[in-house]
Amino acid sequence: MGTFSQTVVKRYNDLSKEDCCLSCGKALSFANVQAGETCVDLGSGQGHDVLRMAILAGDSGFSYGIDISEGMIETARNNASKLQLKNVSFIRSPLESLTLENNITDVVISNCTINHSLDQAKVWREIARILKPGGRFVVSDIYALEQVPDEFASDPKAVSECWAGAVVKDMYIKHILDAGMEHLEMLEESLPYEKGKIRVASFTISGQKISNK
Ligand SMILES: C[S@@+](CC[C@H](N)C(=O)[O-])C[C@H]1O[C@@H](n2cnc3c(N)ncnc32)[C@H](O)[C@@H]1O
Repeated sequence: MGTFSQTVVKRYNDLSKEDCCLSCGKALSFANVQAGETCVDLGSGQGHDVLRMAILAGDSGFSYGIDISEGMIETARNNASKLQLKNVSFIRSPLESLTLENNITDVVISNCTINHSLDQAKVWREIARILKPGGRFVVSDIYALEQVPDEFASDPKAVSECWAGAVVKDMYIKHILDAGMEHLEMLEESLPYEKGKIRVASFTISGQKISNK
């Protein structure tokens, strides 16, 4: 694991037992999870959204949480066992190389996570790969108002703090479209605000994998 990933893992291991809000939008509330669906949360943290999706998907559905921090995975598994949910699995994996098979999921959500990735185009290709044709995503994240200066973008600590890895909005949308998604819809978008040493905005975006892909 490289320095960047180690720094991210350390930060989130440290936060894995804390009662704190790490999200930046309401992705789950727009996901419209139905009984029987297979759901994935990328960067699932303590697992709360994964568990909610498992309950909504019911016994005939399934909910996966993916996270790179072993502390977060452990907390999420403990939370699942308290609820005695059987249709849940938490997998320790980087977003950029998911272990899930092609075309298996109806819905992918993610909240305040993709900005940590050094290869966001690859993350979006992975999302497209695991979605069934016509499957949907709902992602809350941040974008940078201007390209992040290299001194911050190459600083693992700043990236781990959810701001220096942000890309500008046009680039974010390009990654999504290049991965083979369509019908993009901006569901929420904040006013610009200061985060770390830059200006960002939070947003929630949805779309679908092209049906014939
Ligand atoms: C800001 S927290 C958000 C957690 C959760 N989605 C929420 O809303 O509470 C980001 C999460 O993404 C995970 N993460 C960051 N970079 C990752 C990567 N490259 N691969 C997998 N997980 C990653 C972190 O370990 C952390 O749990």
